[in-house]
Amino acid sequence: KHRIVMDVDTGIDDAMAIMIAALHPDIELAAISCVSGNVSVDKVLANTLKVLDLVGAPEIPVAAGATRPLVEERRDASQVHGASGLGDLVLPASERSPAGVHAVELLRREILASEEPVTLVALAPMTNLALLLRTYPEVTDNLARIVFMGGSATVGNATAVAEFNVWHDPEAAHIVLSSGVPLTMYGLDVFNEVAASEEAIRTLRASENRVALALADLLGFEIPGPDGSGHAYNLIGDAGAVCAIVAPELFTVEQWPVRVELAPSLGRGQTLVDRRARPGEDEVHGPSRAAWPAVDVVLAERRPGSVIELF
Ligand code: BDR
Ligand code: CA
Repeated sequence: KHRIVMDVDTGIDDAMAIMIAALHPDIELAAISCVSGNVSVDKVLANTLKVLDLVGAPEIPVAAGATRPLVEERRDASQVHGASGLGDLVLPASERSPAGVHAVELLRREILASEEPVTLVALAPMTNLALLLRTYPEVTDNLARIVFMGGSATVGNATAVAEFNVWHDPEAAHIVLSSGVPLTMYGLDVFNEVAASEEAIRTLRASENRVALALADLLGFEIPGPDGSGHAYNLIGDAGAVCAIVAPELFTVEQWPVRVELAPSLGRGQTLVDRRARPGEDEVHGPSRAAWPAVDVVLAERRPGSVIELF
């Protein structure tokens, strides 16, 4: 069993990731921390509690954390996830209370209390993780690895080159990348590939199971386009990062040096994944990329259409 703690900004695809993490027999979900990202942290907290109620996992402790990035102002992605953050999915408000501590305290407590090393799954801007690593660096001794949805080896989404989670808090991502903890990056390269077909969504919608129906609402949510047209969300998104933990054989993973662009430039928030086969001119006279954090980068689904079968 993989013992995990998750940091989320629920979010359509965070909701799907929570569902699979709470229900998968190979995962023990110890706690969830919330951070501002797709929507404000109070909405993230409410959404997360609702989703846990839906999957019948009300015992998992949840706490709210950072309300904004370390340096930047808060921005959000409600144009993608809808005003509530959950697209079309309407769930009853949860009656349970969050853990009465800050997210960073909850993460520290759960990581240090675990008998075996914990996998930290980050599906949002990494503000909480950065605060945790800076406040309680001793947690790294009991972290098996950090699996984060973020970054890209190619195209961006928030900007031409930057992915939303890293772009929203680049300094936090930099702190996580330099933490020395083994890292797996589930970036846009693979994130943009793993989608549910229209037919799969129709099948879910015809079900009588309330989790399946909720999945149909999340996957079928029409993201409004600028010209009034819409396209369905379709992607399993963050949930794919959880799939990569339970079924790594379904993915192509390569280890590359990765850094975050922090300069106030058009490239701010880009993850630079150095996939050069040979040293470049920069390395002849300059610093070697051997000093860059080595990250297991999930680049693709090995067999297109295989990951969705896990649902
Ligand atoms: C990431 O940003 C958010 O909108 C999604 O939940 C995902 O974590 C994709 O860039
Ligand atoms: Ca997310």
